Amino acid sequence: MKKELFKLAKENIKNAYVPYSHFRVSAVIKLKNGDVVKGVNIENASYGLSNCAERSALFSAYSQGVKKDDIQEMLLCTDQEHFVSPCGACRQVIRELVPEDADITICTVNGDMKTVKNKDLLPFGFTSEDL
Ligand code: THU
Repeated sequence: MKKELFKLAKENIKNAYVPYSHFRVSAVIKLKNGDVVKGVNIENASYGLSNCAERSALFSAYSQGVKKDDIQEMLLCTDQEHFVSPCGACRQVIRELVPEDADITICTVNGDMKTVKNKDLLPFGFTSEDL
């Protein structure tokens, strides 16, 4: 249930390492077996090496043996009152590592939600089919 996922994401946002932007993002991946994998944004003094929450969560999941078809949905939240969408780099990675029909939900700090299908997040995108 998305409300439960939101609670987990919000609870974990404290782990974001954001000494430069002070902009906290938290992502949770719900697996079909009920497990949840979490990720936060992790920044670096060499700014370009910072990692977004979505990619932290996905790389963590795959590192633990999760496969694309194990994933049911993904939800992210920030500490902001407005909606924040995944960046382009994350859309590209989500597109490849998450099933195309999976729900991707973005949440404000208050728990307002917008859900889109993964395949609608990156229209006309580059995929492995293009190789
Ligand atoms: N950020 C994310 O974690 N996810 C996004 O989709 C957008 C941006 C992070 C990166 C950086 O740590 C901070 O937000 C400000 O750009």
